[in-house]
Amino acid sequence: MADTDRGDEPQNLPLAGRDAAHLPGHWLLARLGKRVLRPGGKQLTERMLTDARLSGSDVVELAPGLGRTARSIVELGPRSYVGVESDSDASALTRKVIGDAGTVVDGEAAATGLGDASADVVIGEAMLTMQTDKHKAEIAAEALRVLRPGGRYAIHELAIEPDDVPDEIKTEIRKALARSIKVNARPLTAAEWRMLFEDNGFEIESVSFAPMKLLDPKRILADEGPLGTLRFVRNVLRDSDARARVLTMRKTFTKYRDHLVAIEIIATKKAA
Ligand SMILES: C[S@@+](CC[C@H](N)C(=O)[O-])C[C@H]1O[C@@H](n2cnc3c(N)ncnc32)[C@H](O)[C@@H]1O
Repeated sequence: MADTDRGDEPQNLPLAGRDAAHLPGHWLLARLGKRVLRPGGKQLTERMLTDARLSGSDVVELAPGLGRTARSIVELGPRSYVGVESDSDASALTRKVIGDAGTVVDGEAAATGLGDASADVVIGEAMLTMQTDKHKAEIAAEALRVLRPGGRYAIHELAIEPDDVPDEIKTEIRKALARSIKVNARPLTAAEWRMLFEDNGFEIESVSFAPMKLLDPKRILADEGPLGTLRFVRNVLRDSDARARVLTMRKTFTKYRDHLVAIEIIATKKAA
């Protein structure tokens, strides 16, 4: 493994022993020092957290990853915070970030073990996209179960546009993403994302979009700040395997830039 500068950031990253050529894209970027791992960046996360109305709410975050959004959530003063994360290294990192401001459960988003109607808000970013259609529906059903009537499910995910994009293009994009990020990413169109929620007992409250610019230099600077960007660039330059992966990911995002977009949805559990 190349000598990677993590600055003051977490050392025990998920899949730390795996080589750069085979690491899922999000953990590769994390290893290189990137901390914002969502398609719409920090700005879309902030908008989603505002739209989700967290103050005084019982909040569940599905798949907190490195705990960046967890930190923002607890700073917004919810009544409680629970994270549910399937990777034990990631859940340990989130636990460290939030301290005694909440709890993190090692678990599966489709079977959280949390009580029925125990939350006002469920949040999930960059995690539904990587599930099969069946598993997306199971996770949406679980979010519905843990939410109180009127509660909100807020997501920030990857979408394909336009809604009527031909199936061959959708398949081509999914295959290209799977090859470059080494994750079976299955982004949906905005209409399909809406349908996922409507078919699982939610009403759509709002839908908004942001450019998918995860590896765009200006976005990296906005998300990571000058020092974080420097560290990321230095790490990319030092590790040729990782650099090749990052360039392939960037090439894929650029090739399909007219079809890829970050989407934010706030969906409400219908009142009983
Ligand atoms: C791309 S990262 C995003 C992390 C974080 N939400 C963020 O936006 O920075 C995906 C995360 O989802 C977690 N994950 C994936 N599938 C999951 C599932 N079914 N249940 C719980 N966590 C899951 C992974 O372990 C990883 O931490």
